Amino acid sequence: LIGLETKTIGRHVHYYESVESTQLIAHKVAREEAPEGTLVIAGEQTGGKGRMARPWHSSKQQGIWMSLIIRPKLPPEKAPQFTLITAIACARAIEEVTGLETNIKWPNDILYKGKKLTGILTELQGEADKVNFLVIGIGMNVNQKKEDFPEHVKEIASSLEIEAGHKVSKIEMIQKILKYFEKYYELYMEKGFAPLKILWESYAAGIGKPIIARTITGEISGIALGISNEGILKVEDDEGTIHHIYSADIEFPT
Ligand code: BTN
Repeated sequence: LIGLETKTIGRHVHYYESVESTQLIAHKVAREEAPEGTLVIAGEQTGGKGRMARPWHSSKQQGIWMSLIIRPKLPPEKAPQFTLITAIACARAIEEVTGLETNIKWPNDILYKGKKLTGILTELQGEADKVNFLVIGIGMNVNQKKEDFPEHVKEIASSLEIEAGHKVSKIEMIQKILKYFEKYYELYMEKGFAPLKILWESYAAGIGKPIIARTITGEISGIALGISNEGILKVEDDEGTIHHIYSADIEFPT
C-alpha cells in the first residue's frame, strides 16, 4: 500500500477485485498463519456481511471493504473492545481526511447527521482462555451517490462524498484508518482500555440521552450512561436499575 505509515498493520495485503466477503477470506488466510496486521481488501463484495447476519451492501469500487487480522494475546472477552477501538480509528481518520465530525453509535456505527457512513464487524477465533485471532471488518461508504444505495437504506445511510461534497480518496482514507488503528491498538496493549474509553466517549452519540436497546431477550429503555471499562454499554432504566448490555441494536427515541 502506497504511503503507509504503519509498522505492522497493513504490511501484508491481499487484494481482490471481487469476493463474496473479505471476512471469509480473512478467516481462511488467518487459519493459514497470516501474520499480525494482514489486510484483506476487495473492490467489491457480492455477499458482504453485517452484524446480526444482515447483508452489507458493498458496491463496486465505491467504498472501502476490508478485513484486518490481528493476534492480540488477550482473553476472548476483550474482543468486543476492538470494535470500539476500530470505530475511534475510523472516526479520527474521517475527520483528518474530510474534516467531517462524526459520532459513534455503540457499538459499531459511525454516523454523520444520524446517517451511517461506516460499520464494523469484529469476529473472534479463540479458545476458552485466549484469542487465536480477530478479524475486524470495516465497511466504509466513500464515493456512493444517493442513488447508488438500495432503496431500503437510502434514508439511513450516506457516504463521505455525499457529506463532504466532493470525491474522497480511498487510498488516503485506508492509510489513515490503518495509522490510527495501529496507534490506538498500541496504546490499548500498553495502557489498557481506560484511555480509549475516554476517547470513545468524546465521539459517542447519545450519552446522557434516552435510549432503547433491543437485545435478543427483549427491549430495555432508559438513559445511556456510557460504557464500562470493558466497553459494555450501561443503561439506567426508570426504576434506577443499571443494565449492562453486551449486544443490541440501539435507537434514540425522538
Ligand atoms: C455492520 O454495521 O453491520 C457491520 C458491517 C461490516 C461490513 C464490512 S465490509 C468488509 C467486511 N466484509 C464483510 O463481509 N463485512 C465487513
